Amino acid sequence: MLVSATEMLKKAKAGKYAVGQFNINNLEWTKSILLTAQELNSPVILGVSEGAGKYMTGFKTVAAMVKAMDEELGITVPVALHLDHGSYDGCYKCIKAGFTSIMFDGSSLPFEENVAKTTELVNVAHQLGLSIEAEVGSIGGEEDGVIGAGECADPNECKQIADLGVDFLAAGIGNIHGAYPENWAGLSFDTLAAIQEKTGILPLVLHGGTGIPDDQIKKAISLGVSKINVNTECQWAFQEATREYIEAGKDKEGKGFDPRKLLAPGAKAIQDKVKEKMELFGSVGKA
Ligand code: 13P
Repeated sequence: MLVSATEMLKKAKAGKYAVGQFNINNLEWTKSILLTAQELNSPVILGVSEGAGKYMTGFKTVAAMVKAMDEELGITVPVALHLDHGSYDGCYKCIKAGFTSIMFDGSSLPFEENVAKTTELVNVAHQLGLSIEAEVGSIGGEEDGVIGAGECADPNECKQIADLGVDFLAAGIGNIHGAYPENWAGLSFDTLAAIQEKTGILPLVLHGGTGIPDDQIKKAISLGVSKINVNTECQWAFQEATREYIEAGKDKEGKGFDPRKLLAPGAKAIQDKVKEKMELFGSVGKA
């Protein structure tokens, strides 16, 4: 069931668990995530970066595929189709294409411009029933060409953006996209606690979920994180399973070259990874 992410994240914040945002790249990814959410009776957010949207030929294609698949698979758990790290133009394209949720990432803009554009997009999104995420303090690393320095957000700026009426807020707390370096200092829980204190019941978002140790994930949830984004770990799971299949020569056996067979181990690996994360985040049975 396609919905905005507002209610599922309010419930998550109140219930002290987090809903996973898993990024999609194609049909297999989408199907694996939807089937796992349904099996575990968990709400879920499908994240689409601008790069992935382009790869899938455009946001209209993505929205049409997700809507049809949700229906054809008989998915009854709440599913939000969410733009990840959207630009100003990207947000409007997704609103038009039929997404149910957008993220406007104005973190690289001067703060006043982030405030002005977020304000405008909050009004537009809410008029149309979409949820909206904003960002303060950039997430480090690189995702689909969006590069962030990785800084801790200023809790006062978080409060100002929260007061604009956003539905959930991504705030940098030392997290980065992709693999964490060996010498990573870990999440800044002092920053997270200060942000939570300023923003109250607003659900907070943790980007860069890949590679964060389980105990830090749990502590982040206890301090107000209600949405956790995972992308790279699903890519690694798909890669490893596909590599094993080919290295074992299975693509050369019988009809093992059939794409439906070739892509099956990777799709199953994504399901297992999503299941592991939903269990860790505590969203199982919360649909
Ligand atoms: P990872 O690729 O590090 O899991 O980050 C995902 C993310 O934050 C998407 O916005």
